[in-house]
Order: sequence, then structure tokens, then C-alpha cells
Amino acid sequence: MPCISFLTLASVLLGTAAQSVTVLQQDLLASSVSAVYPTDANYSTVTLAYNRRFTLDPLAIAYPTTPQQVAAAVRAGVAQNMEVVARSGGHSYIANGLGGVNGSLVVDLSQMKAVTVRPSNNTAVIETGNRLGDIALALNAAGRALPHGTCSYVGIGGHSGYGGFGFTSRAWGLTLDTIKSATVVLANGTIVAASSTVNTDLFWAIRGASPSFGIITSIEVQTFPAPQSAIVFQYGWESLDIATASNAIASFQTFAASNIPPEFGAELVFSAGPSSSHVAFGWTGAFYGNASDFNSTIAPYLKTLPAPSTTTISPGSYINSVSVLAGEALNTSTAVESPDTFYTKSLMTPSGSPMSAAAIEAFVTYMAVQGFQSNTAWFVEVELYGGSNSAINAVPLDSTAFAKRDTLFTIQFYASSSDHAPPYPAAGFTFMDGMVASIIENSPSNWSYGAYLNYADNMLANATSLYYGSHYPRLQSIKAAVDPQDTFRFPIGV
Ligand SMILES: Cc1cc2nc3c(=O)[nH]c(=O)nc-3n(C[C@H](O)[C@H](O)[C@H](O)COP(=O)(O)OP(=O)(O)OC[C@H]3O[C@@H](n4cnc5c(N)ncnc54)[C@H](O)[C@@H]3O)c2cc1C
Ligand SMILES: *[C@@H]1O[C@H](CO)[C@@H](O)[C@H](O)[C@H]1NC(C)=O
Ligand SMILES: *[C@@H]1O[C@H](CO)[C@@H](O)[C@H](O)[C@H]1NC(C)=O
Ligand SMILES: *[C@@H]1O[C@H](CO)[C@@H](O)[C@H](O)[C@H]1NC(C)=O
Ligand SMILES: *[C@@H]1O[C@H](CO)[C@@H](O)[C@H](O)[C@H]1NC(C)=O
Ligand SMILES: *[C@@H]1O[C@H](CO)[C@@H](O)[C@H](O)[C@H]1NC(C)=O
Ligand SMILES: *[C@@H]1O[C@H](CO)[C@@H](O)[C@H](O)[C@H]1NC(C)=O
Ligand SMILES: *[C@@H]1O[C@H](CO)[C@@H](O)[C@H](O)[C@H]1NC(C)=O
Ligand SMILES: *[C@@H]1O[C@H](CO)[C@@H](O)[C@H](O)[C@H]1NC(C)=O
Ligand SMILES: *[C@@H]1O[C@H](CO)[C@@H](O)[C@H](O)[C@H]1NC(C)=O
Repeated sequence: MPCISFLTLASVLLGTAAQSVTVLQQDLLASSVSAVYPTDANYSTVTLAYNRRFTLDPLAIAYPTTPQQVAAAVRAGVAQNMEVVARSGGHSYIANGLGGVNGSLVVDLSQMKAVTVRPSNNTAVIETGNRLGDIALALNAAGRALPHGTCSYVGIGGHSGYGGFGFTSRAWGLTLDTIKSATVVLANGTIVAASSTVNTDLFWAIRGASPSFGIITSIEVQTFPAPQSAIVFQYGWESLDIATASNAIASFQTFAASNIPPEFGAELVFSAGPSSSHVAFGWTGAFYGNASDFNSTIAPYLKTLPAPSTTTISPGSYINSVSVLAGEALNTSTAVESPDTFYTKSLMTPSGSPMSAAAIEAFVTYMAVQGFQSNTAWFVEVELYGGSNSAINAVPLDSTAFAKRDTLFTIQFYASSSDHAPPYPAAGFTFMDGMVASIIENSPSNWSYGAYLNYADNMLANATSLYYGSHYPRLQSIKAAVDPQDTFRFPIGV
């Protein structure tokens, strides 16, 4: 068995006194948990990160099929003093599903994909190996739906642990707001329920920071009736000058404060323009209300903009809107997805203190000038979390661990290498950092902005405060109670 000598060597090299991959392997075998090790031929494939900026070498990737096997895997890792992380869809922006650093035990949930819809109370129990596209299909087959993001391949584990925003979120909240209970494997290998009546501290913590507290094997969510009508709109402008693009942001802030209905969701999208001092611009979203109200809902914003270069209006069923927004197959078992190589940052702007005219102009100027010169393939999404009638902000701040309930926009700044493959250019980091700084430096020094954990940034200064806000002390105290050895440890965790 040539692999034994390699694994023994690995355990020596990794230093920690009592850390043996050989014993881990024996423990997993004893519990019938299949796993992939560095000497296996498929190790290099199953350890590929979605973000190819990261190359990570976990000690092993376990594939449990039941909560009991998840618990066995956690116990086996803890017995060898290993850091343990869950992997759901593997779409962490910083490869935290592979541990974020070398030498973790990865508990991959892809063999746990049950979705059970319960008509009696319109809940659904979703195992955390599921991807968003498959969940949308399974719920829709029962006439139900859930708020979540647009990409089919994103896993429910990370998505619902840190937030989960989509164009139904102004009506229904974030994905984590729909969680009624969860089954959690703790660091000591016990399987517990968490809800508003059982393990209530844990239930609070997993709705906003779950990866640091345990491995969630399933969530029970409150579903919503799939809307009768769903209209996806996609407007594009090939080139806007700085003044016009600045106005597009300012007037979106004004529009958001008007009496827009909860069934309306939208984002602004910026990317490199065709010439310097210009940007390409898009306005995309969906309307789930009565179709006869669509035109009058969007008209007040559209009339603040020049005539669009492209217009695509896609009316239809709810599941059609999910499919149009995904722009890829919803069934992830029958399709493949391309990886990317990128650096992402985020900024959540406070509703009570919208971006100033100076901040908007500096931001747009940066996108139009530095953005034209950049050797990256970049985009910026200005996502509407708040505005009037938003269910996200109707949730009291302290009722879940999610750190911000006063957000107007969550802005995602995303720059890929020019061919979306490694290596990632050093200039990509400075370009993105400078773009965020263009806003911060032109905002009040006490501006109460935040950052979004699902757009994870491993290079963020002041990350604890920006990601966890006022909830950090309570999260630390719950962490000390349920994971005193910091078994669930990775960059930007609690
Ligand atoms: C193409 C793309 C599109 C996206 N679109 C959106 C969007 O529209 N809206 C939005 O809000 N976000 C969006 N995101 C961000 C996405 O929500 C996060 O990247 C999310 O964390 C990915 O979850 P995952 O399970 O796929 O990732 P993973 O890498 O598997 O996990 C992410 C983190 O969660 C932990 N984790 C995973 N499963 C569990 C579990 N069961 N229990 C405890 N911890 C767990 C992991 O250890 C890791 O720390 C998008 C990301 C990508 C790549
Ligand atoms: C890895 O390869 C082994 C040996 O061929 C196989 O048994 C196992 O199912 C594979 N695992 C994964 C996750 O691909
Ligand atoms: C993990 O180890 C590999 C070499 O095996 C290295 O290329 C990579 O940079 C390491 N990753 C981290 C995050 O340290
Ligand atoms: C929903 O109903 C199921 C039984 O069908 C029950 O087990 C579950 O606790 C109920 N959930 C809630 C949130 O009431
Ligand atoms: C996806 O497609 C596969 C293969 O056709 C099928 O077995 C599965 O049920 C589909 N999943 C969903 C959620 O529809
Ligand atoms: C939509 O609005 C129109 C006009 O107000 C009304 O006639 C129609 O019944 C509404 N449809 C639904 C499904 O509510
Ligand atoms: C909305 O306006 C467009 C023209 O901008 C028109 O083609 C469409 O019929 C209108 N839809 C409704 C439901 O009024
Ligand atoms: C920030 O400071 C200004 C005065 O400089 C004050 O009016 C405002 O209330 C402060 N905002 C916050 C959130 O503390
Ligand atoms: C970090 O956040 C804290 C709390 O919001 C703030 O007081 C401090 O100024 C921030 N530091 C930096 C370097 O931004
Ligand atoms: C496991 O940890 C939990 C949370 O700290 C605790 O309540 C429970 O008693 C522990 N179980 C065992 C078997 O140690």
C-alpha cells in the first residue's frame, strides 16, 4: 500500500503532534464514510476550487451520506486535531469550502440532496448538498418557491448560512430568513436540532454565520407560493458618460425611496465602456406582481435614463424567470459549469445615509477611467436590498446573526483575470481595492457601511467589524460554548 507511507509523511510534515491521516482513514473506513486522499487519482479533480485564484490541498475529502456519517467524519477529524469544513456547492469566493488554507478535512455534502416538500404547513426540508437550481425545480414542482440567488450551481449550505439574496428577497427576505429549524452536527460530533424553541443560541448563530458553528445537514424552510406572473427585465446601455452614469445611481436611490412594491427586485450593473470616461450599464430585475402594474412600476426610474440600447422583457411563469435569470440550466446534474479566476469585494450602504453625490461621482469616474484601462474582466452589481417595503430590512437586527438590516444597496465588485484562468494579475487587487476606496474616501468618516459574507474577501481590512457588526461578541460567546477548540476554522470565520 504505497499510499500509507505518503500519508504518514504528510502527517509528519503537517507538524501537529497527534495528527495522522492514516488514523483518519481508518476511522472513516470504520464508519463506512467514503473519502478521497492526496494519493488518489481523482484528488486533483475533487479539490479544484471554483475560484482558480486558489490552489488548496486538503488532507482528505469525505463524502458522507447521512447526518450520522457527517458526525463520524467530524469526530474522526477532531481526533486528529484537524480543522474541519463543510463543502456544499463549493462556490465560496475564497475557497473556504476547501478550508481556505491548506491541510483541512473537507466534509463534502454532495451525496445528501433530498428535498422534501410538506404541504401540511408549506415547509420544505432541504439537505445541504443541494444546489439552488435543483431546489428551485423541486419546489416549483409543488407550486412553491424560496428566495435565493440566481446561479444554479451555488450550494444551499454556504448561501443560506451567510445570507442568500435574489430578486424575490424584497418580498420574501434572504434565504436564511426562511429557516424554521436545522439539523446541525457540532464539533463534538453530536447531532442536534436548532430552532426558535431548541438550542436557540445556536439557531440564532447559524442564520448568518453557520460555517463557524457546525455542519448543517438540512434546513427546514418556509416556502412561498410560486407567483402566478413573473416578468424579467434586462435593459442595456452600451456607453454612458460619467455624468449620465452618476445620475443613474443617484436616481436609483431616489426611486428606491419612492413607494416601490415588495414584488419588485432589481440591480444596476456596470462594466468597462467602449472608450475612456465611459461605462457600459445595465438594469436587470424581476417583477412578481400583477403584470398590468409592471410598466407603471418601472417607468419612474426608466424616465431618468436615456433610451436603452437593448431591451429584453421576458414574461412568463415563476420557474421561467428563475431560468432566464440563471442564464444556464437549472438542473445541475445534467449540465456543466465553467470556473473563474477572480477577486471580489462588497460594500453594503446604509439606508439612512445613501451615497453622496461626491461618492457617486468618484466611484463612476473610477469605473470609467481606471476601469477602461484595467487588464481585468470586471463588473459591478448594485443590488437593491432596501428601498421602501423591503422584507430584508423588516427583520429586526438582533433576531438573526445576519449583521445588517438597514442596507439600501449591497454592491459587489468583481474582477476576473482577462481570460478567466490563472494566473490572477496583481493589478486586479489594487484595481478593486481602489474602486471601493473611491466610495469610502468620499463618504462620512462615521459611515455605517458593512460587507457581505457571501461575497467573501480574504483581504478585507477590518473584516470582523464589517462582516459581523454588532453581533460579533455574541457570536464569539456562542462559539466558545459549541466549538471551544475552534474546529470549524477558516479565513474570515468567527
Ligand atoms: C456564480 C455565483 C453566483 C452567485 N450569486 C449569488 C446571488 O445571486 N446571491 C447571493 O446572495 N450570493 C451569490 N453568490 C455567492 C454565494 O452565495 C456564496 O459564494 C455561497 O457561500 C456559496 O455557497 P456554496 O455552498 O456553494 O459554497 P461552499 O464553498 O461549499 O461553502 C461556502 C462556505 O459555507 C460553508 N458551508 C457550506 N455548507 C455548509 C453547511 N452545510 N454547514 C455549515 N457550513 C457550510 C463552507 O465551509 C464555506 O465556509 C454567488 C456565487 C457565485 C460563485
Ligand atoms: C474517486 O476515485 C475512487 C477510485 O476510483 C472512486 O471509488 C471514488 O468514487 C471517486 N470519488 C469521487 C468523489 O470522485
Ligand atoms: C497550498 O499548497 C500548495 C502546494 O501544495 C500551494 O501551491 C498553495 O499556494 C497552498 N495554498 C495556500 C492557501 O497556502
Ligand atoms: C411542519 O409539519 C411537519 C409535519 O408534516 C412538522 O414535522 C414540522 O415541525 C412542521 N414545521 C413547522 C415549522 O411547523
Ligand atoms: C435533473 O435531471 C436528472 C436526470 O435527468 C433527474 O434524475 C433529476 O430528477 C432532475 N432533477 C430535478 C431537480 O429536476
Ligand atoms: C391584475 O390587475 C388587473 C387590473 O387592475 C385586474 O383586472 C386583474 O384581476 C388583476 N389580476 C390578478 C391576478 O390579480
Ligand atoms: C408595457 O409597455 C410596453 C412598451 O414600453 C408595451 O409594449 C407593453 O404592452 C406594456 N405592457 C403592459 C402590460 O401594459
Ligand atoms: C456621523 O456624524 C455626523 C456629524 O459629523 C452626525 O450628524 C451623524 O449622526 C453621525 N452618524 C452616525 C451614524 O453616527
Ligand atoms: C474598524 O471598525 C471599527 C468599528 O466599526 C471602527 O471604529 C474602526 O475605525 C475601523 N477601522 C478601520 C481601520 O477601518
Ligand atoms: C456536545 O456539545 C454540546 C454543545 O456544547 C453540548 O451541549 C453537548 O453536551 C456535547 N455532547 C457531548 C456528548 O459532549
